[in-house]
Amino acid sequence: MIIAVDGPTASGKGTIAKALAAHFGLPHLDTGLLYRAVGRQVELNGGNPDNPADALAACDFSDELLSDEILRSEHVGGLASRVSIHPAVREALYQRQRAFALQPGGAVLDGRDIGTIIAPEAPVKLYVTASVQERARRRWLEMTGREIDIPLAEIERDIVARDARDINRADAPLRAAPDALVIDTTHFGRDAAVEAAIEAVRTLT
Ligand code: C5P
Repeated sequence: MIIAVDGPTASGKGTIAKALAAHFGLPHLDTGLLYRAVGRQVELNGGNPDNPADALAACDFSDELLSDEILRSEHVGGLASRVSIHPAVREALYQRQRAFALQPGGAVLDGRDIGTIIAPEAPVKLYVTASVQERARRRWLEMTGREIDIPLAEIERDIVARDARDINRADAPLRAAPDALVIDTTHFGRDAAVEAAIEAVRTLT
C-alpha cells in the first residue's frame, strides 16, 4: 500500500504522514528533507542554488546531513525551494524516492509531487492544505516555541513566496493529483486532521 501525501509548507502534511505511518505500521519518507539537504549542501559548497550545475553537484550529499537540525530552518527551506526548480535535481532524487515507495510492504511519502510524479499509481493520495494565514500562524508558534523571534508578517511573506515558486515551476509543480482527496486543515486541530486522514485511507483501500 503506497500512501502519497502532498501539500504546501506548514499544511500539516508531515504530521499526517507520520501519524498514518505509525497507525498502519508503514515506513515514512519526508521527501522535503532530501531537497533541504541539497539546498544546504549547495551552501556548504559555496555554490549558488539558482545555478543548475551547482545544485546538481550538491545532490551527492551524505546521509549524515539528513539528521542535521539546521535542515529544519526557514532559511534552508527557502534554499530547498530554489534548488527544487531544476529538473536535473528532481531527476537525481527520483530513484531514491521511487525505490522507497516500492518497498514490498508499502510506504508513506510526503512532499509536493508524490501523487503526480513519484507514485502516481498510489491507491491513496491525499492533498493536505490550509489557508496561508493559518500556516503562517502555525510556523510562527513553532518558531516562538523554539525561542526564534521572527515577525508573523515575515513568515507569511516567506510562505507566499515559497508557495509561488512551488506552484509555478515548470517541472513537477505543486498540485493535487486529479484523484487526490483534499483535506483542508485550516479549522482542524491535529487530532481531527489525523482522524480524517485515517478514515480516508480506510475508505480508499
Ligand atoms: O516540505 P518541505 O517544506 O520540507 O520542502 C522544502 C522544499 O522542497 C519545498 O518548498 C519544495 O520546493 C521542495 N520539495 C519538492 N518536492 C518534494 C518535496 C519538497 O519540490 N517532493
